[in-house]
Amino acid sequence: MGGGKQRRQRGPRHLSPAVRLERRTLWTQNAVTGKAVYGESLRKFSGKEHRRWDPTRSKLAAGMLRSKHDPGLLLPEQGTTVLYLGAGHGTSVSHLYDHLCGNNNRFGGRLVCVDIAPRCLRDLTFMAKQRPGLVPVLGDARQHGAWGVLLPTKVPWLFQDVAQAGQVEIFLSACQRFLQPGGLGLLSLKAASERWTGEGEAALFSSVEQRLLQAGYAVPEVIELTGYEDNHRLFVVEKMEA
Ligand SMILES: C[S@@+](CC[C@H](N)C(=O)[O-])C[C@H]1O[C@@H](n2cnc3c(N)ncnc32)[C@H](O)[C@@H]1O
Repeated sequence: MGGGKQRRQRGPRHLSPAVRLERRTLWTQNAVTGKAVYGESLRKFSGKEHRRWDPTRSKLAAGMLRSKHDPGLLLPEQGTTVLYLGAGHGTSVSHLYDHLCGNNNRFGGRLVCVDIAPRCLRDLTFMAKQRPGLVPVLGDARQHGAWGVLLPTKVPWLFQDVAQAGQVEIFLSACQRFLQPGGLGLLSLKAASERWTGEGEAALFSSVEQRLLQAGYAVPEVIELTGYEDNHRLFVVEKMEA
């Protein structure tokens, strides 16, 4: 070997069998080949079609790219049952489905996604037609009584992105009812949705972290999403083992 500089190989990282990190770009193996969900690009890796996961359209993707830890740790285990509150039109949900369930739900996952807006439910229901295991629910995240029966046992992973006032209370109440001990909860918090008390955004985020800690959760990471989603942070919480 000569004395020249060696170039470091920077190959892809597989965050799960279906999620791939190519440099700073996330891709998920498309569960419904030939179809993009929101205009994202499609590309083949090793003959398998993938969809580009846009971090400016998905706080989960943004959180994964910004996390100081292994980004794969923010994902649920493949083939498990999870709860997503504030599913919107299904941008993040579609990528989560690729990972959790795969083509025709070959991994046996179940993704219960709740949204209060009928327009969103139309899109989610359309999406679910080709994605067995995706369960769209027209409901209010604050009113578990109306839809909680769909989750008779607690889940290992819960994500909330409702962007409305009272986000922390909604999240804590959902975690108490649906998250299993040792489970992971992710709260995407939009500062502008909370009642503004004038103390500044940093103080607001810090008080949210304190409330999560006081409620008995561990908060291993608070991820700054600015640049992908301004005025947002992603709070990562773990429910203590009983
Ligand atoms: C920022 S969007 C979600 C985007 C989505 N998480 C994604 O990454 O593709 C927030 C969503 O929360 C929904 N939402 C607001 N308040 C809600 C509530 N109380 N219960 C359920 N959904 C709610 C809205 O209808 C909206 O679709």
